[in-house]
Amino acid sequence: MKHTDERKRLEDAVFEVLYKSACAKSRITQMKEYVQHGKTSTLAHSVAVAYYSYRVARCLKFMGFKEKELIRGALLHDYYLYDWHCPPKLKKLHGFSHPQAALDNAKADFLLSDIEKDVIKRHMFPLTLVPPKYKESVLVCIVDKICSVYETMSSSAYKNNRVICSQNL
Ligand SMILES: [Fe+2]
Ligand SMILES: [Fe+2]
Repeated sequence: MKHTDERKRLEDAVFEVLYKSACAKSRITQMKEYVQHGKTSTLAHSVAVAYYSYRVARCLKFMGFKEKELIRGALLHDYYLYDWHCPPKLKKLHGFSHPQAALDNAKADFLLSDIEKDVIKRHMFPLTLVPPKYKESVLVCIVDKICSVYETMSSSAYKNNRVICSQNL
């Protein structure tokens, strides 16, 4: 038990270092200004999707996920930087168009790997028709949907998750 707790603490610390490093050279914290679902900001949503994707990858270690790319791709999957609820950004086609907007912004701030690009571009599958190509993209695509449903149904999403809340979301 003690060993498991220690390992999780270490993994959480790795996640926080990677998150802070991504924030340092980008506009990630701007996502705090925009609502994603319910009362959850786009930043909290993106951190949650990255964190839980990472946790699943740690549990399925035998599958050999590329964890840094998984985390960074997930952090940037909704990096479109506008509030899709507000005119003139209220777009009927937001669901279809925002992966490309997020990818364009991410490319402006980072040198992205093919996996990271695919995570961002394909996360709305099956709404967008082309499926994810890598296991990292498939994982983020699934975790994104679970987080989205949870945020829509909860009035205080992630309030018990220290790692997500400690990012001052
Ligand atoms: Fe999205
Ligand atoms: Fe998302």
